[in-house]
Amino acid sequence: MSRRKTASPKADRDAAGPGPLPGTPTGHRLIDRIVRVDHAGEYGAKRIYEGQIAVLGDDPELGPLLRHMAEQEAEHLQAFEKLIVERRARPSLLHPLWHVAGFALGAGTALLGPRAAMACTVAVEEVIDEHYAHQAEQLGEDEKPLRDKIEKFRAEELEHRDIGLDHGAERTPGYRLLSGAIKAGSRAAIWLAERV
Ligand SMILES: [Fe+2]
Ligand SMILES: [Fe+2]
Repeated sequence: MSRRKTASPKADRDAAGPGPLPGTPTGHRLIDRIVRVDHAGEYGAKRIYEGQIAVLGDDPELGPLLRHMAEQEAEHLQAFEKLIVERRARPSLLHPLWHVAGFALGAGTALLGPRAAMACTVAVEEVIDEHYAHQAEQLGEDEKPLRDKIEKFRAEELEHRDIGLDHGAERTPGYRLLSGAIKAGSRAAIWLAERV
């Protein structure tokens, strides 16, 4: 695909809004959006687990599981931190929001109890699974390395979901309500982080 021709490159950029950096190749808008939202999302995930560990870190059963998942989230985040630089993507401007909201969601559900914490994990990871699957579909052969990375992370997010299901997520009182609210919040966060 060739870059869209307009009278002025500046007018083109202005019309496109606060998108990619100028002078970047075609297809960059998609990559810019993918890298931005995934970077923000993995940061949010790291903060969710930090919030859960702050409350449940000493739990003999859940503590090690939470730390295992947090380590994988840290690897996911590192990968997207690298990609933000390599792909010249604009990071989300809402970083302070993801910092606070992620921790609050993790700690808040953990305070409701271990099962609610697991219900939070299941809800978030189910949304991320759909989100990563959709992104992988959008990426062609020319973006195979990024697509493979997303698929690898997606498999690990599904492992996190399974850990949650194995540890009583669905036995949380009010599971459907809690899960529905967290999913709606996660989808709203994705929508926002793709754009802002
Ligand atoms: Fe992750
Ligand atoms: Fe995860």
